[in-house]
Amino acid sequence: MSHTCRIELDGTPHEFPVVEGSEKELSIDISTLRDRTGYITLDDGYSNTGSCKSAVTYIDGDKGILRYRGIPIEQLAEHSTFVETAWLVIWGRLPTEQEMERFSRRLTMNQMMHESLRSHFAGFPPNAPPMAILSAMINAMSCYEPQMMDIEDDNTMEKAAARIISKVRTIAAASYKMSIGQPLMYPHPEYKYCENFLHMMFSIPYREYWPTPEVSRALNLFLILHADHEQNCSTSTVRMVASSQANMFASCAAGVCALWGPLHGGANVAVIEMLEFIKQSGMKVSEYIERVKQKDTKLKLMGFGHRVYKNFDPRAKILKDAADKMLARLNISDPLLDIAQQMEEVALNDDYFIERKLYPNVDFYSGITLRAMGIPLNMFTVMFAIGRMPGWIANWKELHDDPKSRIYRPRQVYTGHTLRDYVPVEQR
Ligand code: ACO
Repeated sequence: MSHTCRIELDGTPHEFPVVEGSEKELSIDISTLRDRTGYITLDDGYSNTGSCKSAVTYIDGDKGILRYRGIPIEQLAEHSTFVETAWLVIWGRLPTEQEMERFSRRLTMNQMMHESLRSHFAGFPPNAPPMAILSAMINAMSCYEPQMMDIEDDNTMEKAAARIISKVRTIAAASYKMSIGQPLMYPHPEYKYCENFLHMMFSIPYREYWPTPEVSRALNLFLILHADHEQNCSTSTVRMVASSQANMFASCAAGVCALWGPLHGGANVAVIEMLEFIKQSGMKVSEYIERVKQKDTKLKLMGFGHRVYKNFDPRAKILKDAADKMLARLNISDPLLDIAQQMEEVALNDDYFIERKLYPNVDFYSGITLRAMGIPLNMFTVMFAIGRMPGWIANWKELHDDPKSRIYRPRQVYTGHTLRDYVPVEQR
């Protein structure tokens, strides 16, 4: 196979190198295109643009494959914990027992917020969106971590990663407690990562919450499935910010903001709102789907479709099975799950969705799982952010460690006015 690409512009041929990834994905390196020809490429929404080389996560969207550092998501979902997966995603291999112990110890050491950071919570109005609080607080954390502003060695890198991954759950739980007017709970040094988060969410003074093993396992699974997903909107945002050599806290805070939108992490909220709407209005699932297909309503089937997966999102499969099992074991019957199942059935047999290769994505079933755990709706996207933190950190690290990294600075095709003169206000 030729390892160059030949294109002809204005009658002149040009050759560009073809870069092959470790899974034989092919790309054309056009980094010299503008210098050589004056042309740039135009790719609205970046669906054909490889913004970087990365060794963190591999997705084959046609085959429904997702692997972190080469390991299939199905194996991690079955055997790993979120903390172990986080280390794998950031450092590129599974940790040894000693490395796991050290990282867990660092997570425990970093689980508390600085006491004066706790007082920042009082400045937010009641009902402030938890995603706004999370992003602001991660950014504010950097004020308390001057030694983490420049990360020059692996030891500092691991400490910084442990700080963010540990404190993010403390901040997230505190934002929930503030929103319902309950005292903020301190983390418990003996608890594991997921139990500790659930304790800070649901314990109250003198009444300790202790999750069932099903709930702890479901949370671990939810977080593992969200740990990374290559160059999605929020991860690309983290890399964009990091490319200016901004610190890890500022870059991850930006990732939270990008994740917030309903076309990305916010979709898990939008799915539940859609299912609730159908339940409360009594509308038939088929009628709702017909409305979605009439484009003028601008309705979408939330939790369906993906820029990369043109087949089942493997995370959705795993989460659907887990949700079914958890609901059965906890003896919970959720009418929204029935609506979701009907919806999936109708959509998967409808030409509109078949032709466009629209399948359920991870958000279609994640909301049902989170509801069964007792997580309130306004915390769903925050849960996604806690899970995605290792992926953001891994991508930040990859860019930071790359001696050839440059500031991200795309070009544009200007479509505005050509030259015109300023007109004084009285003549307009
Ligand atoms: N419902 C109905 N129609 C859809 C949907 C949907 N959920 N998703 C895509 N389509 C249609 C589009 O209208 C378009 O139709 P057309 O060819 O007639 O114009 C076609 O399918 C292609 O869709 P695009 O919008 O070009 O796909 P894109 O890759 O830009 O968007 C996205 C992907 C944002 C995920 C989209 O499918 C969507 O909005 N889904 C609903 C929101 C959602 O679930 N987001 C979560 C994504 S996963 C994640 O972030 C974890």
